Amino acid sequence: MTKELIAMALEARKNAYVPYSHYAVGAAVLTENGSFFKGCNIENASYGATNCAERTAIFKAVSEGHRRITAIAVAGGMAGEEPVDYAYPCGICRQVIKEFGGDDCKVIVVKNETDYQEYTLAELLPHGFGGESIR
Ligand code: THU
Repeated sequence: MTKELIAMALEARKNAYVPYSHYAVGAAVLTENGSFFKGCNIENASYGATNCAERTAIFKAVSEGHRRITAIAVAGGMAGEEPVDYAYPCGICRQVIKEFGGDDCKVIVVKNETDYQEYTLAELLPHGFGGESIR
């Protein structure tokens, strides 16, 4: 599963629409029933309308009826080049991973097929705010 997610995140990077930052991000999610979805970042001339790769992938899954993700892989770097660093999800994306993956969701940050690191969402978003807090 990890290898497939990594390959999909790297593949998704190729579709990144990044005319402003030139920073291409790809992400891939695994749902609890074994489905995969990938996504890229999609920028906008009005910068705030940009959508991160992680949220593109998660929203594709949710909009197809999947409510629970168990893992997400993320790869980012300058467009046309292999990533030189790990791309960690931004704060908004960590919050969205919390919503649909929970504290135990695996987050894999990827440079290439053999160089990656694994975290749990709770490690990246400790003491996070979730639905359980308002029930
Ligand atoms: N970006 C992502 O796709 N994911 C993140 O977690 C951080 C940032 C994108 C947004 C923008 O298109 C570019 O990276 C530079 O911020």
